[in-house]
Amino acid sequence: MRHFLDINKTDPADLRTMIDQAAVMKAARADRPKGMPDDDQPLSGRVVALIFEKPSTRTRVSFDVGVRQMGGQTMVLTGSEMQLGHGETIADTARVLSRYVDLIMLRTYEEDVLLEMADHASVPVINGLTNRTHPCQIMADILTYEEHRGPIAGKKVVWCGDGNNVFASFAHAAGQFGFDLTFCGPEPLDPERVFLEEARAKGAAVEIIRDPARAVAGADLVVTDTWVSMHDSQTTRERRHNQLRPYQVNEALMKHAKPDALFMHCLPAHRNEEVTDAVMDGPQSVVFDEAENRLHAQKAVMRWCLGL
Ligand code: CP
Ligand code: NVA
Repeated sequence: MRHFLDINKTDPADLRTMIDQAAVMKAARADRPKGMPDDDQPLSGRVVALIFEKPSTRTRVSFDVGVRQMGGQTMVLTGSEMQLGHGETIADTARVLSRYVDLIMLRTYEEDVLLEMADHASVPVINGLTNRTHPCQIMADILTYEEHRGPIAGKKVVWCGDGNNVFASFAHAAGQFGFDLTFCGPEPLDPERVFLEEARAKGAAVEIIRDPARAVAGADLVVTDTWVSMHDSQTTRERRHNQLRPYQVNEALMKHAKPDALFMHCLPAHRNEEVTDAVMDGPQSVVFDEAENRLHAQKAVMRWCLGL
C-alpha cells in the first residue's frame, strides 16, 4: 500500500520520480484549458475522496482539478458533515470508504487521525495537511524551486517565522532532497527538535539562527508562512504577532539573501504581516507558481499512490 503520509516516510528515489513526472505532466499541458483532460487518463474509472476537517482553497481545488484532468472523479467531503464528526470511529470510516473509493486525501487536525485512517484503509491515503506536517505543499515547492533554478540539492533554504507544519515538511525534504535548512524564529515557536535532528542525520546542514539578517545571508530560497495557523488558538494571536514581527520578510531582509534568491509562501498569506506586499508581488516571489504546482505535484503523488 503506497500511502503518501510524509516526505520522510517516502523513498527519496520515489520522491524524485514524482517531481520529475510532475514536471513532464505540467509541460504536456502547456497552454491547455484547465478543464481539458490530459492525453493520458490514468484515473479513468477511479473515484477519489477528498476529506476536509479544516478550511482549504488550494488543496481542495488543486486535488479536484487534478483528478478530473487524469480522468477520475472526486467527492469532496467535510468532516463535520460525515458521521466521522459525530462519533463514528476513524477506523470504521476508513474501512467503509475503502469499499467505495480508490484513494483518500485527508486534511485534519491531529496527525493520529491521519495515521489511523491509513492503518485501517485498504486504499492509499494522502496527507492534505495536519497540525504537524504538509507534505503535498513541499512537493509543489521543490517542483517550483527546480523549475526556476535547477536542482535544490546543496542549496540554502531559510525559513523565517513560526516553526510550524509547513516548516516541518521542509525539514523532512531537506533530509530527502539534500538541501541545507536554516530556521529563524523566536525560541518559543521553535520546531520540534526531531524534525531538525532527522534532517541532520540524513546529512543536511540544519541550523537555528535567531538574527534574521544573519540567517538569510547567502540564502537561495527564503520562505515564510502565516503567524497563526488553523490549529492555533486565536487567544495566542496577539502574543504570536508580537513574537514573530521581527521575522517579517520584507525588502530590507531579502537584500541579505543571494541576489537571485527566490521567495516562497504556501498561501494563504496575511499581507504586510509575515511578508510585505513588495516582496509578495516582487520579482523574487514565486508564490503563485507554488500554488499552481500543487496541481501538478499532487497529480504525480496520486499516480504514485495508485501505481499508475
Ligand atoms: N497552501 C495550502 O494548503 O492552501 P489551502 O489551505 O488553501 O489548501
Ligand atoms: N501553517 C498553515 C498552513 C496553511 C496551508 C496552517 O496550518 O494553517
